[in-house]
Amino acid sequence: MMNIRAIVLAAGQSVRFKTKKTKLLFDVCGRPMILHPLMVLQELGLPVSLVLSNKTSAVKDIVSELGLPQLAYVDQSEQLGTGHAVQCSRATWDQDNVLILYGDMPLVTKELLLDMQQKHAEQDADVTFLSTYANNPHGYGRVIELEAGYKIVEEKDCNEQERAVELVNAGIYLIKRSFLEEYIDSLDANNASQEFYLTDLVGKAAAQDKKTQMIKVAYDDVRGVNTLKQLWEVEQIKRARIIHHWMREGVRFEFAQTTHVDCDVEIGADTVIGAGVQLLGKTIIGQECQIKQYSVVENSKLADGARVLAHSVVNNSRVGSNTVIGPFAHLNTNATIGRDSHIGNFVEVKNSTVGYHSKAKHLTYLGNARLGDHVNVGAGTITCNYDGISKHETVIKDNVFVGSNSTIIAPVHIEKDAYVAAGSTINRNVPEKSLAIARERQTNKPGYAEKLRQGKAPDTSGSSSDTENTYSFKGAVKTDTECKQNV
Ligand code: UD1
Ligand code: CA
Repeated sequence: MMNIRAIVLAAGQSVRFKTKKTKLLFDVCGRPMILHPLMVLQELGLPVSLVLSNKTSAVKDIVSELGLPQLAYVDQSEQLGTGHAVQCSRATWDQDNVLILYGDMPLVTKELLLDMQQKHAEQDADVTFLSTYANNPHGYGRVIELEAGYKIVEEKDCNEQERAVELVNAGIYLIKRSFLEEYIDSLDANNASQEFYLTDLVGKAAAQDKKTQMIKVAYDDVRGVNTLKQLWEVEQIKRARIIHHWMREGVRFEFAQTTHVDCDVEIGADTVIGAGVQLLGKTIIGQECQIKQYSVVENSKLADGARVLAHSVVNNSRVGSNTVIGPFAHLNTNATIGRDSHIGNFVEVKNSTVGYHSKAKHLTYLGNARLGDHVNVGAGTITCNYDGISKHETVIKDNVFVGSNSTIIAPVHIEKDAYVAAGSTINRNVPEKSLAIARERQTNKPGYAEKLRQGKAPDTSGSSSDTENTYSFKGAVKTDTECKQNV
């Protein structure tokens, strides 16, 4: 293995992005752009020098988390061009060869760099660089073949003939340190951009009869990202690569072109992913799961056989095996649902745990709640966890049945095997095996409905017109034929 230090250039201003934030921190499939090449270099075990400026210093925060060995930060306080950026890194050239790449190439692969290393060594080249045929060469430096070697002409400096060349500079160079030391200071800024171009080194190698090797590679491995449109293009390629990977691992995508899967997601075999699904962050999905259409799962863990039905959102949560979430459910932050349970339509669960074989199937909010096993939560149940100042806990033990439309005011405990009658407002603990009823007792008035229809009922509401509107059906309801005509 050769001695190589990688220099990654990341000090530029992202002028063509037109955003305040540096382009290098925009995500490509859930990972900031700059981390893509850096993680490939990490896999290759290369020491890295990262050239930053005050415009890109925020990059440090995320790079430091990677824990790259022998990482050196280089400051390029004035951005005078890619050649100048490499000059700034001089003090870190501690290996015999220097691999230079740009921070805006998120599709670069380990295989590509390994192949480059091998060919550089085989040829004993002074300069090895990559070129490619771009679908649209706009913005790239054109590679001009000379009698001995090559030169790279930046688009702004091209004459008409040069601009028509479709072979472009990919932006990855493997250079002997001795060559760099000799020629890096000979770069000048006599060009259309008045910048020190790194690319001029290739022409210098030709002029000095140094051994230069050009390797043509696939465009999709070396696309540069200068604009938000190019970001979208590379993300589509990355997304397709990720999905192809999981297809090879036995994951079925029902409508793959509408699905998004981030880089760090893991999916077990025999899992089915529906249309429009987004799997984000560090999500881990087990085997034989189903994530149905338009659901979003982020930073969450689903055990084998779990099912997330259509239009559900699972965020920073955990779902046990064979448990069903949705349709239209929301596991908000920090929900843990045990195995064989069901969280159904329009149910939100936040900062709560639910045991196994428990159910909350319709229209419920569970916040700061601890539910045991075999609990049934009726439709429309709400845990009132917030009093305007603090959050309080609701504990519902095993085998409890909570009747529909109950309001449970925390802090409160409902002990094992208890029943809560539908429509109750519970603000006191319910002992084991008890039935809690906390609602107005019902009275029935015989014959009263008939009187209402005939308009003979005495006004008990205090406002006669309200009563009239409430009980008058005439004209308010359309007949079947009217409805059909409207359709
Ligand atoms: C560069 C190449 C071009 C090549 C293309 C491939 C030069 C002069 N041109 O053009 O031949 O076809 O990449 O994608 O090298 N940077 C610094 N300091 C600076 C300027 C830039 O660190 O002073 C960094 C940027 O943050 C970026 C990288 O260098 O990550 C490349 O700069 P960019 O301006 O994107 O170069 P291109 O115009 O794309
Ligand atoms: Ca670029």
